[in-house]
Amino acid sequence: MDSVERPSWAPGDIDLSRPSIARVYDYWLGGAHNFAVDRAVGDRVRAGVPMLRTIVLNHRSFLRRAVRYLLSRGVRQFLDLGSGIPTAGNVHEIAQAADPTATVVYVDIDPVAVAHSRAILTGNERVGVLRADVRDASAVLASPEVRGLLDFDRPIGVLMVALLHFVPDPQDPRGLVGAYHDAIPAGSYLAVSHAGYERGEWDPAWDDATREYNSGVSEITYRGKQEVERLIDVFELVEPGVARLPLWHPESPDDLDENASGFLGFGAVGRKP
Ligand SMILES: C[S@@+](CC[C@H](N)C(=O)[O-])C[C@H]1O[C@@H](n2cnc3c(N)ncnc32)[C@H](O)[C@@H]1O
Repeated sequence: MDSVERPSWAPGDIDLSRPSIARVYDYWLGGAHNFAVDRAVGDRVRAGVPMLRTIVLNHRSFLRRAVRYLLSRGVRQFLDLGSGIPTAGNVHEIAQAADPTATVVYVDIDPVAVAHSRAILTGNERVGVLRADVRDASAVLASPEVRGLLDFDRPIGVLMVALLHFVPDPQDPRGLVGAYHDAIPAGSYLAVSHAGYERGEWDPAWDDATREYNSGVSEITYRGKQEVERLIDVFELVEPGVARLPLWHPESPDDLDENASGFLGFGAVGRKP
């Protein structure tokens, strides 16, 4: 793709011929910040997993419910790791609607996610945007964005929504959770959503779609309920623990998928005692 086809919102340093996690996700969510390569692979994956749109919408509604839950527990500062391309219902909108003084730092590795976040946040001094690899926790935690906006003497809500399935076991996702846990004060929280399924639930029809995603976009690691529990066991999980996404604190019948008890994805919130 040449520069003539580069949309004005696309930063100059990105490769428009390679799909990205953030842009494919934006496409599935119905957003406008994606390219033909993202839509092509997005369509191929979705062909094998027809419930994909329901799945991604459930991660987004979990994010909303988890942020509201943390607000109800007095949390007013959020560190959103792997925050993605902003769409409807972003963390700062939910948090600042409840308390205009709430602060949020968005962190993502994707240049489009970061550029678009910065564009919509101009003038909002209580929100920061950092381009970083969240696996480098010490760099994230030492960044001017985090240090300038988050008070480490007050509870912080760390969000890892649809993120940890991009951290394979050899990269020590549990250690990553531990690094953020150790940095935040007692009374802080972690909210996690994760792609996965339980033994016996895999449908062979998903093989091709997973291969497409792994080779075209990024390696994805599905985990079951117990594996997700183990990833975040340094936190004390609030009720109901690691749950199928639609069953984690549903707020309305709309949150409940018809297949909630077999839903392909889990959510949980834990507290640092
Ligand atoms: C599936 S999207 C979820 C976005 C957002 N959390 C949401 O729920 O809408 C995953 C995001 O994590 C980001 N991501 C993946 N690995 C990352 C890493 N190592 N460091 C920073 N961001 C990462 C991707 O760029 C993408 O924006």
